[in-house]
Amino acid sequence: MKHHIVLIIHLLAATIWVGGHLLLAFRYLPATIKHKDISILNDFRSKFGKIGMPALFILVLTGILLAYDYNVPVSKWFSFSSPIERTISTKLLLLFASLALAIHSQKFVFPKLTAEKMTLAIIEIITVTLIGITMLILGSFIRLGGI
Ligand code: HEM
Repeated sequence: MKHHIVLIIHLLAATIWVGGHLLLAFRYLPATIKHKDISILNDFRSKFGKIGMPALFILVLTGILLAYDYNVPVSKWFSFSSPIERTISTKLLLLFASLALAIHSQKFVFPKLTAEKMTLAIIEIITVTLIGITMLILGSFIRLGGI
């Protein structure tokens, strides 16, 4: 029962994180490019950040709790020794990649963003969206025994 409640919270947070990025990639990013107006992107990012970052934090917290229920504590991470542990460690690596990209865009990409120089921002938004979808797919494999 406890596992089920934590899983529901994990899934709600995943909905916010992945759903927000899909909205960004398919709705706000194309509108920014079409109208050559970076305020469209910046407005969405500042609003989504307030709910997206807490959702990512909740994903990590609930993910770690779920991993313990699958007998994958911190001491077993990155040993790549069993299918479930491999899936969880891959999710963690992807999480670190998302965090690195988020810090990079926050510090170096978005402060210098102009309507003419958007290539790096487009690449980073699409990459973080694809990583989120990959983490969701990996999550769905855990109850099937892992990868
Ligand atoms: C963007 C980040 C993440 C997304 C989108 C995500 C998404 C998901 C999804 C969709 C499931 C499927 C649950 C089901 O089968 O019903 C899941 C399960 C799971 N996730 Fe994540 N997850 C993320 C991050 C993490 C992290 C960081 C960890 C570990 C540290 C983690 C550990 C787990 C575990 C152990 C399960 C299996 C739960 C179960 O089936 O009972 N997740 N995740």
